[in-house]
Amino acid sequence: MKITTIILAAGKGTRMRSDRPKILHKIANRSLLQHVYDMSCELENNSIKIVYGHGAELVRDTLKDLDVSWIEQKQQLGTGHAVLQVNDQVSDTDTVLILYGDVPLLKLSTVKLLISNVNDESLALLTVNLQNPKGYGRIIRNALGHVIKIVEERDASNGERLINEVNTGIMAVKGDKLKKWLGRLSNINAQGEYYLTDIIEMAVAEQVAIVTSQPETEDEVLGVNDRLQLSYLERVYQMEQANELMEQGVTLKDPLRFDLRGTIESLGQDIEIDINVILEGKNSIGNNVKIGANTHIKNSTIGNNVEILANCIIEDAVIGQGSRIGPFARLRPGNVLANNVHIGNFVEIKNSSVAEGSKINHLSYIGDTTVGSKVNIGAGTITCNYDGVNKFRTIIEDGAFIGSDTQLVAPVTIGKNATIGAGSTITRDSPEDQLTLSRVGQVSVTGWQRPVKQEK
Ligand code: UD1
Ligand code: CA
Repeated sequence: MKITTIILAAGKGTRMRSDRPKILHKIANRSLLQHVYDMSCELENNSIKIVYGHGAELVRDTLKDLDVSWIEQKQQLGTGHAVLQVNDQVSDTDTVLILYGDVPLLKLSTVKLLISNVNDESLALLTVNLQNPKGYGRIIRNALGHVIKIVEERDASNGERLINEVNTGIMAVKGDKLKKWLGRLSNINAQGEYYLTDIIEMAVAEQVAIVTSQPETEDEVLGVNDRLQLSYLERVYQMEQANELMEQGVTLKDPLRFDLRGTIESLGQDIEIDINVILEGKNSIGNNVKIGANTHIKNSTIGNNVEILANCIIEDAVIGQGSRIGPFARLRPGNVLANNVHIGNFVEIKNSSVAEGSKINHLSYIGDTTVGSKVNIGAGTITCNYDGVNKFRTIIEDGAFIGSDTQLVAPVTIGKNATIGAGSTITRDSPEDQLTLSRVGQVSVTGWQRPVKQEK
């Protein structure tokens, strides 16, 4: 069976009160349309068409990597008109699936069930019972319980408005039927629009059965029309992800205060995550990892037994087994830390490698640096890697000890087991095994007295 999925995404989204088209707004850092696309990609033998219109250029530009055909709907004359734009690209024997670009949480299992209800004598319709059906098209059934039509809210009688079963807008039907019925739509209704929903009555007139199915949860079929709904669905989505992680053995101190904006490529056992942690992009986390509160980790690989204390920001890092980071550490992009490395509070480190067992424990800036193993970098050490125009590397070899409050002016190499005296400004290479320091000699002035306050 070949599937053609048509994603309707031309609408404006006025209630978002945004310059950006609605479908580009994001849930978990992925646009609404991307969510729908990603789910659709899980269907086999599927070709995806997106009907776009509002914010055309921005939509095409932002989502240019999607493997789809783009069909522009220049004027938004209704859902039926939107699907009509794709008519020439649908073959008769295809099963056509219609999705909305602003309904981001629809599940693959729900779609598969829907599609399984399509054959040459049926149309599959996804409906849902809502306590408050306001705004939706109502499902009208006859005495036998068969669907006979859909009535839009604005065209409905008072009696019809009491019906709780509504149209989700999501349906599937064979291509030949769809094309035939779309050609017959009119826009004589309360909104002056070509309603896709009018094909239901046409189907019924031709003895085509309307087979309904329901999603597992209401949330799956909720659309985003305003920022309240956007934030609601963000929380639903985050809760789903949190539940999945907990099922996989992760401890989340509070699943309501955890955000995954991306994927976890590999996940160890006995991971403990404190509150307000954000994991972004593609991360891998080993066994027995602890992540402290208020920490943001992006595109990083974290080895076994790593402890990340509270309030750290970590990006594009590789952190070796048994390392300890933070609290209040900032790992800017490009760091590779070997095993058992300690990066302490108020340390900023960028584009550097740190070999096994080295410590940078307090108040330092280490940039563009190669740090050997068992190196100790004292509090307040700064690598001066930038002369205002160019950047240079600092090399600190194995076993070196850098005294506190030292500036290392790159390019510079600190030899193996070298010791740098505290308070030094190092501008030339420092030899192995020796003490190097640059410091103004200390003086004490005998007979000196503190000034005293003068009487007036
Ligand atoms: C539609 C259904 C209604 C259903 C509801 C579910 C019709 C006539 N009505 O109503 O029965 O209960 O969805 O949410 O189908 N779109 C286009 N081009 C257009 C018009 C719409 O691409 O010309 C897209 C929108 O961007 C949106 C989707 O189609 O993604 C639905 O449009 P919307 O205006 O929200 O439909 P409703 O009037 O809410
Ligand atoms: Ca609407």
